[in-house]
Amino acid sequence: MGRVLDLCLVLLSLRAPGVLSLSTHVALIYPQDPVLRMGSNLTASCWVHPDLGVHASSLFWTLNGQQVPSSLYRVLSPSNLSLTLVGLNASRQTSGDNLVCHNHKGHILAGSCLYVGMPPEKPVNLTCWSRNTKDLTCSWAPGGKGETNISTQYKLKYKLRWYGTEKECEDYRHARPYSCSITQDLHLFTPYEIWVVASNQLGRAASDVIILDILDVVTTDPPSGVSVSRVGQLEDQLSVRWEAPPALKDFLFQAKYQIRYRLEDSQDWKVMDDVGNQTSCRLAGLRPGTVYFVQVRCNPVGIYGSRKAGIWSEWSHPTAASTPHSERLMSGSCDSKSSGDSNSTLRRELKQFFGWVRKHAYGCSSMSMKLYDQWRVLMQKSHKTRNQVLQGDKS
Ligand SMILES: *[C@@H]1O[C@H](CO)[C@@H](O)[C@H](O)[C@H]1NC(C)=O
Ligand SMILES: *[C@@H]1O[C@H](CO)[C@@H](O)[C@H](O)[C@H]1NC(C)=O
Ligand SMILES: *[C@@H]1O[C@H](CO)[C@@H](O)[C@H](O)[C@H]1NC(C)=O
Ligand SMILES: *[C@@H]1O[C@H](CO)[C@@H](O)[C@H](O)[C@H]1NC(C)=O
Ligand SMILES: *[C@@H]1O[C@H](CO)[C@@H](O)[C@H](O)[C@H]1NC(C)=O
Ligand SMILES: *[C@@H]1O[C@H](CO)[C@@H](O)[C@H](O)[C@H]1NC(C)=O
Ligand SMILES: *[C@@H]1O[C@H](CO)[C@@H](O)[C@H](O)[C@H]1NC(C)=O
Repeated sequence: MGRVLDLCLVLLSLRAPGVLSLSTHVALIYPQDPVLRMGSNLTASCWVHPDLGVHASSLFWTLNGQQVPSSLYRVLSPSNLSLTLVGLNASRQTSGDNLVCHNHKGHILAGSCLYVGMPPEKPVNLTCWSRNTKDLTCSWAPGGKGETNISTQYKLKYKLRWYGTEKECEDYRHARPYSCSITQDLHLFTPYEIWVVASNQLGRAASDVIILDILDVVTTDPPSGVSVSRVGQLEDQLSVRWEAPPALKDFLFQAKYQIRYRLEDSQDWKVMDDVGNQTSCRLAGLRPGTVYFVQVRCNPVGIYGSRKAGIWSEWSHPTAASTPHSERLMSGSCDSKSSGDSNSTLRRELKQFFGWVRKHAYGCSSMSMKLYDQWRVLMQKSHKTRNQVLQGDKS
């Protein structure tokens, strides 16, 4: 059998030349290009022009290039052969399945596209956000399994509550499917009613209507100029700085930031979410001599007095920095085996203190950080002394 056609096209051009050029209607399939529900039955007929001198009983059918067993045929008249398909499967492609009628030599006489699928289900999970109040983008998920197997259109509709007329979002040129951006005539301080309508030739379904005010769904660009630097020789700390998103500099709002960081070779991010509205923060309790990746994101809370929580921006590009090596490593006087060892009493004390500090001064309070720094410097000094004493003992 010929190869399966990838697309269901009008088949006139595929008709064998010469043999069947008597008339434009050498043969016809009825019904032409039907749209049917999955599981339904179809009786189609192939009628051949009597002038062709072809008897219906010599014809055969193919579906997507596969010959259909003749047990499903019925000769209705010398020029009319029918085919009955029971429990139709969904179309393999949204462009339809190829149902083709052939003469006994295999030449194509006529073709029809079968579109077999399901009506769309109610779209779900409609959510919207506004980037810097300059647009309103919504995304949703198709209902059910999302497979209708025939071409289905989604339209995002909206209107201003109270006095608006119904409009349709037009900008679907989005990287993600099932989303649309409204970019013109945006109204702040007026709630929108927004919903999605899915439709195909078997039916239509509308999502629930959501109501929102643009100022309640503002998100912004990730903070720019994120830099990560060492805090003197403090081996377990890094300082992170960033700038507020410039797109919102003329807005009245309270930025909220989050930082996350991870070890170079780990996928587990640690999140600091009590950074508040500062544009710098200290990470503490880090591993000495280790590369960290750091990202920051911004939530523009309370734009123009909105009381809703804003929407977090994307994370900034990761910025990397390493903590200084510990004194013991740097001194080079310990052998590598003992240098990585953290079993000494002192280490344990330090750990305990880190624990205490993190519990009581977690976050970016600069006051407690100062105390912490002082304590750390002190401890590092005594650590060094003790280490030297220990080494002295050893040698
Ligand atoms: C399809 O045909 C079968 C067998 O002839 C029948 O049992 C079934 O009810 C039909 N289905 C529909 C949807 O008509
Ligand atoms: C062929 O048979 C089908 C099914 O009975 C019928 O609907 C159609 O009108 C017939 N076509 C012709 C041209 O006789
Ligand atoms: C539906 O698919 C099954 C399995 O691929 C096949 O056996 C059956 O003949 C198909 N039914 C129709 C009506 O094409
Ligand atoms: C229906 O469409 C889905 C998604 O395109 C596909 O995965 C599935 O195989 C289709 N069903 C059939 C019977 O081809
Ligand atoms: C819709 O959102 C719910 C809850 O967040 C989630 O469980 C579900 O998988 C989502 N549905 C789709 C189709 O994405
Ligand atoms: C940061 O927040 C505090 C109170 O939470 C507020 O007093 C201060 O003005 C805010 N600073 C900025 C730059 O928004
Ligand atoms: C700590 O490490 C040293 C070697 O660096 C070892 O001799 C000692 O037994 C260790 N102590 C404990 C409690 O594991």
